[in-house]
Amino acid sequence: MPEPNKFYVTTPIYYVNDKPHLGHVYTTMVADVVARYHRLRGDDVFFLTGVDEHSTKVVDKAAEKGLTTEAWAEQNATAFRQTFEKLEMTNDDFVRTSSDHHKRKVTEYVAALLKSGDVYEGEYEGWYDAGQEEYVPENKAKDNDYKSEVNRKPLVRKKEKNYFFKLSSYVPALLDHFEKHPTFVQPDARRNEIVNRIKEAQDVPISRTGVGGWGIPVPGDPEQTIYVWIDALFNYLSYVDTPDRRGYWQSGATHFIAKDILWFHASVWPAMLMALRKCDGYDWVNLPAQVYSHSYWVSESGAKMSKSLGNFLDPAAIDNYVAEFGLDALRYFLATRGPLSVSDSTFSPDLFIKTYNEDLANTFGNSCSRVANMIGKYFDGVMPPVHAEFDDNQNSGAETNDDGDTTDSFPIHLDGNEGLGIRPSHSGNLLAVAIGSSRHYRTAINETNLTVAAERALRIVRGVDTYIELKKPFSLAKDWEQNERQVATVLANCAEALRIASVLLWPFIPDACEKFWKRIGCDYAAQMAANGGRGRLDEWTQWGQLKPGTPIEKGDALFPRYDPNK
Ligand code: MSP
Repeated sequence: MPEPNKFYVTTPIYYVNDKPHLGHVYTTMVADVVARYHRLRGDDVFFLTGVDEHSTKVVDKAAEKGLTTEAWAEQNATAFRQTFEKLEMTNDDFVRTSSDHHKRKVTEYVAALLKSGDVYEGEYEGWYDAGQEEYVPENKAKDNDYKSEVNRKPLVRKKEKNYFFKLSSYVPALLDHFEKHPTFVQPDARRNEIVNRIKEAQDVPISRTGVGGWGIPVPGDPEQTIYVWIDALFNYLSYVDTPDRRGYWQSGATHFIAKDILWFHASVWPAMLMALRKCDGYDWVNLPAQVYSHSYWVSESGAKMSKSLGNFLDPAAIDNYVAEFGLDALRYFLATRGPLSVSDSTFSPDLFIKTYNEDLANTFGNSCSRVANMIGKYFDGVMPPVHAEFDDNQNSGAETNDDGDTTDSFPIHLDGNEGLGIRPSHSGNLLAVAIGSSRHYRTAINETNLTVAAERALRIVRGVDTYIELKKPFSLAKDWEQNERQVATVLANCAEALRIASVLLWPFIPDACEKFWKRIGCDYAAQMAANGGRGRLDEWTQWGQLKPGTPIEKGDALFPRYDPNK
């Protein structure tokens, strides 16, 4: 057996100044879908999320609450961890920047950079956004009337003695990297923005004074604390900087973040890694493969969802959605209707219900019930055989593409539902629909185009519905003697196509798919568990694997229809 590919995926580490909200859940959910897809493919995945503790916001908020900073950080770190556990996120570790391991590693990295001369002592004066804990360049500050771009509070003029990282000297290397790796930052529009900004990059302070000991001291100068952003970025490296995990780092990290923090991830972070790589003992440090910067969930008024704006979905509200619709429904909605592209997405309860009913209840859930019910009714709940003389699928090669497209190209990141509807009915060749769609699904998901990927899987389900309308097994069954073999063939093909759709849908709606697998006698979940969580996507999406004679269980509705008037 060849060694599986390694795949390393991360989320931002979230500030523990407050409890989690939908925005944090979103990025972690997207990373989780992608992590599950890679595991399904058979990759050896390491998925990291966690919390960023050394922010002055945490100190301030704790003081406001009358708690020690540690106690407040602990309480919120626990809330994040529990929220992610409850939402069945499959992260392999959970970062806490207050952990001894992380603190030790960051100290080592900064010491190495000081020694190499890429970090030096100097003085800094500029416009500071306290909410974002970030200095804002003069032109950007001016464009925003010297207010925070994020929370609109006035920027403060600040002057400090600091240690600086020589970002300016890495500008040519960064630009070269962007040119050689056109997908280093995605989506494209975000990359273009950042490249323009990098051209003007100046050296950046990497330390602070007067943060009351909350953070990691600069090695050799305990008066200074390592700037929270530098401390935080290093989490991606520190948590896999152990002999057994280094291979994940070297496989090229995929960082999921939102646009608010792209600058650090696309400039300071790769430049620091370039600098570190030149230091003794760090020649194994390469650059991340990709920084994927999505947009925001906004409330119906158009404002960014955030704690400070008081319009966010908090853990209790998230629990309510899960209680009402199920975890899969929340996963599916966030992953497929979320702001992965350059536009923001509105979190609207109406759209949630519509998506749930259309895609999950009326499409996947309904088709699974319909086919299982017919197999129950006509074949006593036992998978019927395919009879070659009635099988439209038999003559087509696996490469045929009968799903309405002539090429592999399709629009990237559809923001609405344009173009996502049912294609003109196919020729009755379900095999071609399944194979063509699963190929397109892979291309889409590899490009983090989750909306299109899920739609490709659903296209197979819609193909089943069209096929049933075309073949009319219920009418055929009226003349049983004459048509039994044909009804058997039709239903066997439907079950087979739904099996393939369920494999592709698993990263999005794992609970429902696993339930369905049990009902059709597929032990994929057990196979994955026995194989270190890794699946066999290629094998499982081949046509013709459901064995005749297998019991097919009806079960209850996977996604009961939701009455919008409820
Ligand atoms: N601690 C830093 C990140 C350090 S990473 C080395 C930070 N933390 S944060 O708690 O403010 O989280 C920001 C991230 O949360 C965003 O980049 C995004 O991933 C997620 N989101 C927060 N609000 C969001 C929305 N309204 N919509 C979508 N994602 C949102 O910045």
